[in-house]
Amino acid sequence: MRPIVPPFPAARLRRLRRTNALRDLAQEHRLGVADLIWPLFLLEGTDSAQPVDSMPGVERLTIDRAVRAAGQARDLGIPAICLFPYTEAARRTEDCAEAWSPDNLVNRALRAIKAEVPEVAVMTDVALDPYSAHGHDGFLRGGEIVNDETVEALVRMALAQAEAGADIIGPSDMMDGRIGAIRSALEGHGHQHVAIMSYAAKYASAFYGPFRDAVGASAALSGDKKSYQMNPGNSDEALRLIERDLSEGADMVMIKPGMPYLDICRRAKDAFGAPTFAYQVSGEYAMIRGAADRGWIDGERAMLESLLAFRRAGCDGILTYFAPQAARLLG
Ligand code: PBG
Repeated sequence: MRPIVPPFPAARLRRLRRTNALRDLAQEHRLGVADLIWPLFLLEGTDSAQPVDSMPGVERLTIDRAVRAAGQARDLGIPAICLFPYTEAARRTEDCAEAWSPDNLVNRALRAIKAEVPEVAVMTDVALDPYSAHGHDGFLRGGEIVNDETVEALVRMALAQAEAGADIIGPSDMMDGRIGAIRSALEGHGHQHVAIMSYAAKYASAFYGPFRDAVGASAALSGDKKSYQMNPGNSDEALRLIERDLSEGADMVMIKPGMPYLDICRRAKDAFGAPTFAYQVSGEYAMIRGAADRGWIDGERAMLESLLAFRRAGCDGILTYFAPQAARLLG
């Protein structure tokens, strides 16, 4: 596309910026409640909530409270939520068996939410980090994160989530071959309808810091995730990963983090036209909230502007901890 711009004064581009009505009429991209996915942190116990220190305004919720949050999502028009468990050190083991236990925190929450609030789509995270003693997304053998053995565990984990009622499976581990393996296991076990949103281009990022605190992984994590998460210096590699995951059976793809990687969102959408999502991660949330809480920026405007940026960059939707606040303003 080549925009036609006649010479001044025929073209006065300010004409369409003059009033609210004209600006609305000429607006190219919009943010709506239906574009939002709300990530929730789960906690064992009943009727309690625990603040996450590095994410003001975000709390870990017990299952009953998470069911209420799902009801809130439905009432606000938020189409999907995404579940992450806080796991105490004692439940983190060498074999990560808790990851595919039908009765782990996530799977119990899934059943409770699908029973009470079936209208809201529930997404789950597939990676071993909440269940491993070292906080890595895969099995650690001789100082290395092993790929193929991890994929077998991820398949078990995804199947348990599908059994528990997950609508969308979100593999976030960055192992090779996991999308194809999970897709064929889902097909083979009667879960043809379960969608996969692949964390296809997930970078080894400093912006996950507050999340690791929220799920109890900060203390656990030894080393970094650079041998499986992407190098922030790469862009073509993101397209290869996205193409690979789509061809292995991902229904949707995600780019993560969000705002520092808007160029990747745009390239991915232009190249493949697939349903494309961005994760506005914990560190992005913390920056905006932290500055707003100190009065350094207008929090509501910064939040909405940051979310609209994803739509402009080609994303169909955004995972964001701001989902309920944004939904209230947008609704
Ligand atoms: C774990 C996972 C992470 C996030 C989502 N799933 C952290 C990591 O890879 O260390 C980050 C989300 C956020 O920062 O908000 N596989």
